[in-house]
Amino acid sequence: MTNKARLQCVSCSNTYPLFELRYECDCQGLLEVIHADDGMNNLAQLSDQRLMSRLPADRSGVWRFREAVVPLQPDELVTQQEGGTGFHHIEALCQWTGSKGLYLKHEGENPTGSFKDRGMTAAVTVAKKLGVKLLACASTGNTSSALSSYAARAGLQAVVFLPSGKVSPGKMAQTLGYGAHVLAVKGDFDDAMQIVRDLAREAQVYMVNSLNPFRIEGQKTIIWEILQDLEWQAPDWIVVPGGNLGNTSAFGKAIEEAFNWGWITKKPRLATIQASGANPFYKSFLKGFETIDAIQAETIATAIRIGNPVNFTRASRAIVNTRGIVGQVSDKEILAAKAAIDRSGLGCEPASAATLAGLKLMVQAGLVKKEDKVVAVLTGHMLKDTDAIMKSQTLACEEVEADAKAIQLSLDRLRN
Ligand code: F0G
Repeated sequence: MTNKARLQCVSCSNTYPLFELRYECDCQGLLEVIHADDGMNNLAQLSDQRLMSRLPADRSGVWRFREAVVPLQPDELVTQQEGGTGFHHIEALCQWTGSKGLYLKHEGENPTGSFKDRGMTAAVTVAKKLGVKLLACASTGNTSSALSSYAARAGLQAVVFLPSGKVSPGKMAQTLGYGAHVLAVKGDFDDAMQIVRDLAREAQVYMVNSLNPFRIEGQKTIIWEILQDLEWQAPDWIVVPGGNLGNTSAFGKAIEEAFNWGWITKKPRLATIQASGANPFYKSFLKGFETIDAIQAETIATAIRIGNPVNFTRASRAIVNTRGIVGQVSDKEILAAKAAIDRSGLGCEPASAATLAGLKLMVQAGLVKKEDKVVAVLTGHMLKDTDAIMKSQTLACEEVEADAKAIQLSLDRLRN
């Protein structure tokens, strides 16, 4: 496998070797991986052939596309056969949103229960190759779970910075259980993110937040797998929740590359949905992306409780290049969407439900036509945040005496 890929600055286009230990340009711009175009037009077809293979690298929905992710050999990868997630068409959710052509890509079906595994397999693989010792991230709980798990698989130490008291118990347990050291910061995610950026600049830790360009490379494969699920016919819209905007950035890059390499003949439009209490990207969109102003974020969807997204430059470019939009939804709308998704049998965590809440509004506004083919990405598993379920008013749990007559009464009520 030839290795002609390089790192390039999003702002000034300066380039660096692919495996140089850095996350930003000398001008402080964000870096991205630029792949050589050679052979890429055949990769969609090659990835189809790999669906039949038993090699772990081919079974991974990330490394099936390895030449265009991080060009490495299968034995160099830290993989848990991530990706390969379900692609669901559910009548009840088509009705709920008003979108007849709706499909759901459930990234909660990844090994640690969120889409973060796709970026983390790439970032930890590179960390191992670079020979770094200590990996770090700031997180609202999913990135930290993924880092903790993949670092364990690679035999590397991880330290994670979480906003104290603001991470769901399930994510906290997962992060601790896989063996990471947790530093619970008395502040919010944005404070924790700043700490990790500073530590990375001082070269104290290897940072695997989505500022790390390899995270973006892994997460691109959500889009490529969706296109593969649709037999390389691009949908009209792809809808995703937005927090730190790593996914929005990755999706934009994946769409551009798939189009430039001839895998698809039209570009889907991207819709990023934010919680209205954590909406700096939405506000910036309304002003034509001239600037972005940090806000103090608050939302029930703790995964996207982020007021100062670090990927603004890449993400705004993704929206512009795909003729996309940014929307916002209230916590009430998020919970209503979550209830619909849960009751459909699929289930997801609150942040993921922002996608369907947003889509419903887009259909009502006539922006998405009923017949459009739409793919909504569900980012995290239902069990990631059980508190959000247990607070619901409509759960059907009643205490009952261990007595045949009492039980019979309940069953009779259910039949009627
Ligand atoms: N959905 C879920 C379930 C998330 O965990 C996140 C981000 C997002 C959506 C937003 O994605 O940042 O790429 O725009 N969670 C990060 C974390 C911040 O630390 O787990 P984004």
